[in-house]
Amino acid sequence: MKEAFHGSDLEKIEEIYGIPAKEIISFSANVSPLGVSGKYLEGIGERLHCVERYPDRGYRALRKALGGYCRAEAGHIIVGGGSSELIGAVIKHKKAPRALIVAPAYAEYERNVLIAGGSADLFYLKEGNDFEFDMEALCDRVAEGYDILMICNPVNPTSTAVSADRMGRLLEICDRLDTVCAVDETYIDFADDIYDVSPLTAQYRSLFVIRSMSKFFCAPGLRLGYGITSNEKLLSEIEENKDPWSVSSLSNEAAILMLSDREYIKKVKTYMSGERERVCKMLDDLSSSGISYIKPRANFVLVHLPEKGPSSRALFELAVRQRMMIRDCSDFKGLDDTYIRFCFMDRKDDDRLLSLIKETYS
Ligand SMILES: Cc1ncc(COP(=O)(O)O)c(C=O)c1O
Repeated sequence: MKEAFHGSDLEKIEEIYGIPAKEIISFSANVSPLGVSGKYLEGIGERLHCVERYPDRGYRALRKALGGYCRAEAGHIIVGGGSSELIGAVIKHKKAPRALIVAPAYAEYERNVLIAGGSADLFYLKEGNDFEFDMEALCDRVAEGYDILMICNPVNPTSTAVSADRMGRLLEICDRLDTVCAVDETYIDFADDIYDVSPLTAQYRSLFVIRSMSKFFCAPGLRLGYGITSNEKLLSEIEENKDPWSVSSLSNEAAILMLSDREYIKKVKTYMSGERERVCKMLDDLSSSGISYIKPRANFVLVHLPEKGPSSRALFELAVRQRMMIRDCSDFKGLDDTYIRFCFMDRKDDDRLLSLIKETYS
């Protein structure tokens, strides 16, 4: 049986392929290559004693900093151990939820629905439509009646996105039917502002936006995510079911420092949009080899390989042996072994990966 790898499984790669984890460039974890913020590195040293105390149970300072960053009211924000904890918490806040998941999707959504004893229907973004959102069809499906709708925006793994101005009718239906519309914005910081639906939380009580410090701030080890909603009932139900101090004092302090680093935030945004454009141009040059891609909105791209050449798994193997880990997308429902996903890293690393793809399919 072939092994399945999550985007962050570098230690598993080390175990199986004998390549030291620290030598592998992870094109599959979708984490910014620019490292952590300078303000965090400068400031964290003098805050190390914070672990001697419990964090503020209400995380007041952190929620205020997050609210300032994403222009939301601090009172509408809940924090958790990565967006993972909040995905689990919102799905499980209702027993045996009936869920509709926009697919292809991050596998954790369905896993959490099943853990909660619920049932998951999938609404597929179609390959023939370049995995764009068909909002009319989605609205019709949601009108059938669900407890929760899970959308990833931008979508992992397709990197497509729906703009906030197209969400109105869907959210009206969700408000009317009491369906929680959970939008996972883990990758939103890399995308244009038009895709950010979080400002709509003030208007629609069904909307619960989930965000993360892991990817954009290059801090997956911090384990810090947050949710935004104006629905006080939902907020307190989730709060009641969560562990009280799931964000450590150190993560609390670190995140406040990172969020205050405006220059760093600008630098990451500028780098990533430039690199996205540069890599897309290089992919355009591979079109004569039968390689195509879905126009990316986030910091990663879904690439379609020629049907006749090596499969996604074969390319994964070739890349690993050159110390590059890409995502073989054959295990995503709605995709197959002609799809890979990779995130934009350092320019020279991206050049190396693109050369390998070129050599393999020319
Ligand atoms: C779409 C999506 N949501 C959530 C997560 C989990 O992120 P976190 O590190 O914030 O738990 C990931 C991680 O890969 C992801 O791709």
